Amino acid sequence: MSDALRNLSPELRRAWHPLCRSDEATSSPRSFRVLGENFVVYRSPNGEVRVFFDRCPHRLAPLSLGSCEGDNLRCVYHGWVFDANGVCIEIPALGDGATLPARARLDGPSGVIESHSMIFVAPEQPLTPVPSIAAAYDPNFQRGDLPVLVTRGNAGLLADNFLDMAHFPFVHVGTFGAGEAREVPNYAVTRDGYTFAAAYEHEFANREDPGVEAGLRPLLQRRRLTYRYTAPFHLELAIEFLDAGGTNVIGFFLAPVDDEHVRIYSSLWRDDLDGSTERMKEAVDFELAVVDEDLALQSRFENLELPLDITREVHTRADKTTVELRRILNDLVQAARN
Ligand code: FES
Ligand SMILES: [Fe+2]
Repeated sequence: MSDALRNLSPELRRAWHPLCRSDEATSSPRSFRVLGENFVVYRSPNGEVRVFFDRCPHRLAPLSLGSCEGDNLRCVYHGWVFDANGVCIEIPALGDGATLPARARLDGPSGVIESHSMIFVAPEQPLTPVPSIAAAYDPNFQRGDLPVLVTRGNAGLLADNFLDMAHFPFVHVGTFGAGEAREVPNYAVTRDGYTFAAAYEHEFANREDPGVEAGLRPLLQRRRLTYRYTAPFHLELAIEFLDAGGTNVIGFFLAPVDDEHVRIYSSLWRDDLDGSTERMKEAVDFELAVVDEDLALQSRFENLELPLDITREVHTRADKTTVELRRILNDLVQAARN
């Protein structure tokens, strides 16, 4: 049993982490920090994404300050040029035709992948699957992105918070929480490897449904919530309105930046807004207010670590998802050590 997971626990290098959004990878190299390490990202003319550790092997200058030349990257300091595989193909100070040192090459993460408009990296051979959101590939859904947020916090605690249902009526009184039931219904958690799903149905007062006013439907309606988790810090909540129709999906992807900070990528997918960008903007602003309520608390935790020894905290039947989170992350840590 591992004791606790911190943002920079080395075992997290064996998993996928969000590095940036797809539209942030362009022909201008940029630097993004994950797990205490800077990565340079750029997009080649044929659309492929290139990612390397953001330091030149010569004098360790940040490559993100250099420039793209087609599919190649030129360092800003002494002008060395590296090809798409990171091999140095030009050292201007040596002139034409020189033999280049074999060690003049860039290292990169073990894995780079683009999925649902985001770029993920696995610094070392990943043990966990790449997260995917089905709604992102369903043409009935439109997507709205929250701005990328950076907070003081622990990625494990933020994942715990996203999966937690008992805090709604307390932390979210300013947004949606006031009318939420305090009692968490019984639900089952189904684990599959380094992922799990948990779903439950309950009744709620649908005050936003115009069909209630029109006498088409009762105020109390059925709603199904499905949480999907992929280790280490990829989360999805699908809310299906079983009577009024429509599905809202919230994606939440956490990048541990350093030991005290987390970058949050969150997007919404909705199939009930008739393509309206105005209504999507309202939905994004509302979700941002909800996340702000969570972060106001999460950023204040003194110990930025998620206990993996489940005897350290008190759990109840309302905490099944967050106990499973600890079990899976503990398994990941153990597997990464073996
Ligand atoms: S530090 Fe990059 S070329 Fe010298
Ligand atoms: Fe919350």
